[in-house]
Amino acid sequence: MRIIFRFGGIALLVAAIVILAVLPFATSFVEQWTRRDVELRSQLVFNSARDQVVSLLARDDVGRLAGLFERIASDERVLAIGYCDGEDLRSPTRNMPASFTCAQAARSDTQSFSTIAAEGRNILVSSFPLTVAGREGHLVVLHDLSYADRRGGQARNYLFLALAGVAFGAAALAAMIAALIMRRWLASIRQALENARAGAAGQPERENMIPLGQEIRDVLQELEASRRTIDAAHTDWSPDTLRAALANELSGSEVIVVSNREPYIHNRAQNGGIVLQIPASGLVSALEPVVRACGGTWVAHGSGTADRETVDASDRVPVPPAHPSYTLRRVWLTDEEQDGYYYGAANEGLWPLCHIAFVRPIFREQDWQLYRAVNEKFADAVVAEAKREDPIILVQDYHFALLPRMIRNRLPQATIVTFWHIPWPNAETFGICPWREEIIDGLLGSSILGFHTQAHCNNFMDAVDAYVESRIDREQDSVTFGGEETLIRPYPISIEWPPTALEGQKPVEECRRVVRERLGLPLDMRIGVGIERFDYTKGILDRMQAIDALLNEHPEWKGNFAFVQVAAPTRSKLANYRQLQEEAEALAREINERHGSAGYEPIKLLIRHHEPDEVFELFRSADLCIVSSLHDGMNLVAKEFVAARDDEEGVLILSAFAGASRELSEALIVNPYNAHAMGQAINRALTMSQNEQRERMRLMRDQVKERNVYRWAGQMLLSASRLRKRQRIRRLIASGRKRAPANA
Ligand code: F6P
Repeated sequence: MRIIFRFGGIALLVAAIVILAVLPFATSFVEQWTRRDVELRSQLVFNSARDQVVSLLARDDVGRLAGLFERIASDERVLAIGYCDGEDLRSPTRNMPASFTCAQAARSDTQSFSTIAAEGRNILVSSFPLTVAGREGHLVVLHDLSYADRRGGQARNYLFLALAGVAFGAAALAAMIAALIMRRWLASIRQALENARAGAAGQPERENMIPLGQEIRDVLQELEASRRTIDAAHTDWSPDTLRAALANELSGSEVIVVSNREPYIHNRAQNGGIVLQIPASGLVSALEPVVRACGGTWVAHGSGTADRETVDASDRVPVPPAHPSYTLRRVWLTDEEQDGYYYGAANEGLWPLCHIAFVRPIFREQDWQLYRAVNEKFADAVVAEAKREDPIILVQDYHFALLPRMIRNRLPQATIVTFWHIPWPNAETFGICPWREEIIDGLLGSSILGFHTQAHCNNFMDAVDAYVESRIDREQDSVTFGGEETLIRPYPISIEWPPTALEGQKPVEECRRVVRERLGLPLDMRIGVGIERFDYTKGILDRMQAIDALLNEHPEWKGNFAFVQVAAPTRSKLANYRQLQEEAEALAREINERHGSAGYEPIKLLIRHHEPDEVFELFRSADLCIVSSLHDGMNLVAKEFVAARDDEEGVLILSAFAGASRELSEALIVNPYNAHAMGQAINRALTMSQNEQRERMRLMRDQVKERNVYRWAGQMLLSASRLRKRQRIRRLIASGRKRAPANA
């Protein structure tokens, strides 16, 4: 309603200005036109009476002249008539104003007209030259101009009324049209926002759509972007906020996660029963709490010996087994597929290629064919699981470089968010990969491609630049390939906060005692820990060499410091991994022989899988933790150590080549290739005051608490939501444009 008044008011104001501007011109035009009419009448009077007047004047027949003049003056428009003989007014008619003199008439050789005021009115005096017997004189005819004034006034009034009527009509029409347009625009924008919020695809309601202007689209995007930025920055991320973000921003959306490693493995135990195993995987420990919070479906390789026995007819099993909150859909692989796709292409090819730990990658064509076939198999499973045309699909890791493109081809409206959990090497290094173009093409099937750090994003864009034809927008961090845009974004992964494994932990003093007793160490022995899969990228040998260097340079620690290395066997089918384990065992023996003594072994190597609560107990018992990765996307062990230390003590020694070093800058940052410097760092950690330990630990705990895994997932999902809204608005605009010509 307000809009109608506003537009009507504006139209009226414009009309009033037009009337005020036009009216004086119109009035003066009518007055001039009337005066011209009077002048013509005077002329007619003169023309018809001239000869008679000249003849009567020549004869000096005053009586008949006066009679003639009175007859002429009887015309209602003629006021008076007379003859100016020089200054002498002769035979003036009865109505001649008393004040009129010949001097007031404009007399010249030709007819002339002048206006005088007499007796309170305007009078037009028309003078016509006459020559009578050689004497010059003027016939003067007076017209009362009140009539012209009246006509001008009437014309002004009629004009005013006419213009005012038109103005009111125009204002009302303008208001109605504006209201109609506004209603359609508002409906269109509301629809756009509602659809964007729902994030769902599908056709917009075409009836109400009109094309949205570029400006409106931009404004919507800016508003949306700024609101999101504020939200993301100010949210305390937790399972609840993640659920709320999902409900608010992506309500009704379907979430499907794809990874190679499954979150729950069912194995056949030796006693014939089934045991549940949670794998030692950073990916799983980060993603599982997120999927638990969001619900949905997780598609993964069923690798357990009892996995087939625990699924339903559709290969699905609800998990977590105790309190199911999402569905695990298992995909079965043959041994041949497992060898070529997982051990071969992924772990002998892409893993060393991306980590640059000076282990030569092996690229076998047969492995790549199986990698492609397994990616297809997972694409089939994802498409089969999707209930809608536009699910949100979270593709995980280097096992599935081709999967985003395969899904995109079959579900064009899906929002595919791919996260690469390992580093992305520089373009030159990546260039040795024989499958580089296919990998890039596959990944660019994603809507959003995430890495842990901006450096990895940059490396990826450099590789795109070097090896495929595309348009790269370095400001927006996006790549347009084959007409489709992929956003490249850093999302530093993290752990849940507070960590589940911390629940039920004993106080730190108790952990210190229990662990030392279990390991046969004196209660006052200082200990350091290292915990990971037995992988050559983790720098396990390098850290042992650092302990060797410490004990060489600071022999005072012999007998007073022990290092507990927990290493879970992994990928043992591969020669490099078996070799690493052998080398580590040999090196530990050698160092123990060199620096150990009766009842004292500086290095305790525990080669077995540890459950999360055991790991946390070990973290809580330690004086320091060493993470010496030669190259690591993030490394969650570093974050878990910090999370385990609610006593705010303990020192983290962290490789500069792990992504975590970008966030945990209060750790003692080391170069794992420099054994001497790492030995010095261990000494520094062992001699660090409690105050300094607390200051550092507090800052790191704040960081991990705030930038937890719910934030990681939340930010990716918010990016996905923003993208879906933008795409939705684009679709609306496109459909509006298509409609526009039909409407025209
Ligand atoms: O770092 C990549 C990664 O997928 C991690 O997320 C995970 O900890 C590790 O590799 C697990 O490897 P796998 O599944 O081969 O045991």
